[in-house]
Amino acid sequence: MHFTFRQLQVFLAVAEQGSFTRAAEALCLSQPAVSMQVKQLERHTGLALFEQFGKRIELTHAGHELAIYARRIAGLLEEADTVFEQIRDARRGRLSVSVASTAGAFATRLLAAFARRHPAARISLDVTNNEGLYAQLDANACDLVIMGRPPEALDLVADPFMDNPLVMIAPPEHPLAGHEAVALQRFAAERFVVREPGSGTRRAAEGYFARHGVPFDAHLEMTTNEAIKQAVAAGLGLAVVSQHTLGLELASGALVRLDVAGLPIVRQWYVAHRRGRRLSPLAVKFRDLVLSEAGDYV
Ligand code: PGA
Repeated sequence: MHFTFRQLQVFLAVAEQGSFTRAAEALCLSQPAVSMQVKQLERHTGLALFEQFGKRIELTHAGHELAIYARRIAGLLEEADTVFEQIRDARRGRLSVSVASTAGAFATRLLAAFARRHPAARISLDVTNNEGLYAQLDANACDLVIMGRPPEALDLVADPFMDNPLVMIAPPEHPLAGHEAVALQRFAAERFVVREPGSGTRRAAEGYFARHGVPFDAHLEMTTNEAIKQAVAAGLGLAVVSQHTLGLELASGALVRLDVAGLPIVRQWYVAHRRGRRLSPLAVKFRDLVLSEAGDYV
């Protein structure tokens, strides 16, 4: 059989309208053009597809059968069209992601992997603290957020995807370096280098010490984890940081991780967006990557 999809479309229009004239109007064609397409189809199949009852036309048995297949073919082509549309969008689309400072390193590596898979996508990454992320979610200002603890006051879709262990770091010459399961009380007189007040890591560390009734001396305040690590290595104090901010410093011996009883404080990383925000195909793909592969990038 050699017929075209255009002929099937015309045939379906006639079947649905029950009239050559109305089908011609619906398709913006002349009535003879519609009749000709249907005749060609009848020639190809060798069967009559319509019967005339006075002014009415109706499908023959063969016509009914052909209509079933024609609708399936039309449905499949529509589905393919939707898929192509999504692929086009995903290729050209934009993605804006905001992440907690502490997630900055692994989130950047994840975005780099994503950018390699979607080279035409335009990506923006904003790195800020927990409070900044709250404000962005409140304003629905970005596609996705990677954060420590999603605020309950906002209606969000938030999925945990990975543990976030907080550990205590010290310079290598610290007297408790190498000791095992040191009691938290031993740190009551220590000075700590901490992040700014809006930081989730800082809130978690202060909360942990408070719950155990141990004083926490937030002696020096710094806005980045990098600065904190430098300060600790330089002997300005100890710090509680996410394991995910530690890279080569431990391997190179610039810093050590203290073995404190009860630590790490295990938090979770979440990927979140405002409920009701329609995620673009690109954002859906990035979210899927975060949920399935984030662990490979820490
Ligand atoms: P932050 O990390 O300390 O960079 O705000 C987020 C969090 O752990 O909640």
